[in-house]
Parts: sequence; structure tokens; C-alpha cells
Amino acid sequence: MRALTWQGKRSVSVETVPDPQIQEPTDAIIKVTSSALCGSDLHLYEILAPFLDKGDVLGHEPMGIVQEVGAEVTHIKPGDRVVVPFNISCGSCFMCSQGLQTQCETTQNRDTGFGASLFGYTKLYGQVPGGQAEYLRVPQAHYGPVKVPDGVPDDRYLYLSDVLPTAWQAVAYADVAPGKSLVVLGLGPIGDMSVRIAQQLGVENVIGIDPVPERRARLAARGATVIDPTATDDVLQVVQELTGGRGADAVIDAVGMEAHGSSPEKAAQTMVGFLPDAVADKLMRKSGVDRLAALHLAMDLVRRGGTVSLSGVYGGSADPMPLLYMFDKQIQLRMGQANVKRWVDDILPFLGDDDPLGVDGFATHHVPLEEAPAAYEMFQEKTDGAVKVVFRP
Ligand SMILES: NC(=O)c1ccc[n+]([C@@H]2O[C@H](COP(=O)([O-])OP(=O)(O)OC[C@H]3O[C@@H](n4cnc5c(N)ncnc54)[C@H](O)[C@@H]3O)[C@@H](O)[C@H]2O)c1
Ligand SMILES: [Zn+2]
Ligand SMILES: [Zn+2]
Repeated sequence: MRALTWQGKRSVSVETVPDPQIQEPTDAIIKVTSSALCGSDLHLYEILAPFLDKGDVLGHEPMGIVQEVGAEVTHIKPGDRVVVPFNISCGSCFMCSQGLQTQCETTQNRDTGFGASLFGYTKLYGQVPGGQAEYLRVPQAHYGPVKVPDGVPDDRYLYLSDVLPTAWQAVAYADVAPGKSLVVLGLGPIGDMSVRIAQQLGVENVIGIDPVPERRARLAARGATVIDPTATDDVLQVVQELTGGRGADAVIDAVGMEAHGSSPEKAAQTMVGFLPDAVADKLMRKSGVDRLAALHLAMDLVRRGGTVSLSGVYGGSADPMPLLYMFDKQIQLRMGQANVKRWVDDILPFLGDDDPLGVDGFATHHVPLEEAPAAYEMFQEKTDGAVKVVFRP
């Protein structure tokens, strides 16, 4: 089959690789019909290079048609249309049974000290071949895949794989309600969808912040207040004026470690990408080389006693946060990869024909898998108005 493979820092290519096979009775094989590109793939593209091997197949936002199932997979059958959650979880362990599928004790990566395995997401998370490919082997398929109806375009359901549950969890963790104020930092797919979901849940004062004009425009058109952080010297003051002088009740950081505005850290992080793997591995895990501009801004913009909900992915562990300041402001902080299956039933009512979240038109680009390398470049550089790219293998 053809698959998008990682080849090195900022280098991916479409190669012919062996077709995936059923290996366990809980596996399924899916013929991929759509597979999206995510901000998380950008971390692999560059910063997380030490944790990838040449040839690794990327991608964790797939949907398609079931081809084959193992003996223990009974809720789906060949021919069914399914969306595949980006986390791989068993559905029945201690963690899964309380809605913490990202911590699944069946697929947890104890050797690296990380949580549940993820598709196409480094050695830290099981090095499981990803879904930017013609076919995908789905482990734990007796639980993971979500069966969806036929008769509407893929885009209606595709984002159940990651964007929708991630944004839903970000909003849930932000603990907002009608009458409260919410700042969303970063208006890529995750921040964008977080704004849409908060609005649907009745939060009126939603403020989106992103330096990219077309990303702000998508949400201004849906009634959100938007701020260009490069056009004002004092984002804090602008936000305070919009929130009764106190700061926002909650801030969602949907930026992560690609943050703009962290030059010294960026230099350090770029350097890490060029170090020998063993050294870079240590630096990434232990040292404060993170790009933290957005996270620090989140701590500024939240009011005292407010909540910061972190969905952006960060690396490193030395001084990753302004703890002194967080403690003084008594901020509540919630974070983590999205527990996809936990939120699916809450989201499905919003995926009807009236399309309140605008999922049908959410993607800016649909491209053949063969054109994936150029699409990675476009998405990283944010050219051609790219916000969400969907591959059609
Ligand atoms: N928690 C999860 O389960 C989960 C799932 C998917 C993605 N993510 C993470 O969420 C983050 C966003 O993903 P995405 O797909 O939307 O990616 P993206 O890279 O398209 O979006 C990031 C946005 O942040 C903006 N930005 C950069 N610096 C900023 C700054 N200083 N202030 C304000 N905005 C700034 C960028 O212009 C961009 O629009 C990534 O870190 C990704 O890894 C987490
Ligand atoms: Zn993703
Ligand atoms: Zn489990």
C-alpha cells in the first residue's frame, strides 16, 4: 500500500510499504477513505524527531471502511463505515472504565513511561503505524472504532477521530458555562473548534487569539471576538477590557510547542533537533527547552481563581511553568490528550444536517495522499489559507 512516512526532520515522503495484516483477535483492518493532518503531526515533523525512525507511518485522524476483523471484534463488520479514535484503548480496564482512555492500562507504554498508545505518534506512544495510508491496522478494534451512518460526506464524522473530542475536552476542562468568559489561545483546528463548541454550549463571551488573519476571520464570522496578538502591545489589557477588568474565567491553550514568540527557546529546540538522538532525547524530557510563550500568556490572561485548560502539547520538564505565579493566582489547571471515546456520545447530537459546528466546511484543503509532503509544508508554514487538511488516500 501507499503510506506517508517520516524520513527525517521536516522530511516526509509517500512510499510503498507492506499491507497491514490482522495480528490479534482484537484487530481490524480499515480501508482509509479520509485521514486528516493535525497540529500534533507538526511536532513530529520537527521537534519530536528524536523519537521517530525513518519509515514510520504517520497520521492519527482516519476514517474508512472496515475490510476485515479479528475473531473478538463483534460491534463492527466488513463494509461498515467507521471513524478511528487517535488513542488506542481497551474499553474495560480501570482507566478506561472511568473515561480516562488516554491512560488505558492495557496499552500504556510502561517501557517509556507514557500513557496509552497513539496511532502514528512516536516511540513514546508505542510506535504504532498511523493512518495517513491506504490501509490501517486498528488494535483494540473491539472497542475503538465508532460506527457512523452512510449517506453524508466523510467530513461530517471525520473529526470525531481527534479534533471534536479534543476541543470538547478542552471546553469541558475549562469549566465554562453561559455567563462566563473564555479566551482561546491559538485558532488552529483545535482552538477553532473549541470556540465553536463553547458557543454552542451557550458561552457568549468567547475571545479568540491568533496571529494568522484567516484563522481569526473564520471565527469572527461566527460571532467570536478575535484579537491579533501582533497588532497590540498589550493583549492582557485588551482581554481585561473585555472581561470586566479581571481577566477571563477560563483560558484554553490550543497552541502547544509550535508557539510563535519564544525565540530563545525556539533556538534551543531547533538545536535539539540536530543533536544525536540519545542526547536530544534527554534534553527533550529533562530540560527546559520548551516553547512556552503561549502557556505563559494563558497564565496572564486568566483571572485569579480561574481555570487554564491545556490542549496544546508540550515537551520537556524543567521549569515548564511559572509555578510561583500560578500558585499566587490560585489557578486551576487541567490538561491531557483527549479521551476520545468519553466524549463521542456528547458530540454526536451536534453532527446533524443543520451542522451547527460547521464540520462540513471545516477543512480548507482536500488533497490526494500522494501530495501529502507538500501539504505538510503548507500547513506548517500556514500558506494558502491552510487551516485543516484532509488526505484522500
Ligand atoms: N490534547 C490533545 O489530545 C490534542 C489533540 C490534537 C492536537 N493537540 C495539540 O493542540 C495544539 C493545536 O493543534 P492544531 O491542530 O490546532 O495546530 P496548529 O498548529 O494549526 O494551531 C496552533 C495555532 O496557534 C497559533 N499560535 C502560535 N503562537 C501563538 C501565540 N503565541 N499566541 C496565540 N496563538 C499562537 C498558530 O498561529 C496556529 O494557528 C497542538 O499543540 C497539538 O499538538 C492536542
Ligand atoms: Zn490530531
Ligand atoms: Zn483500557
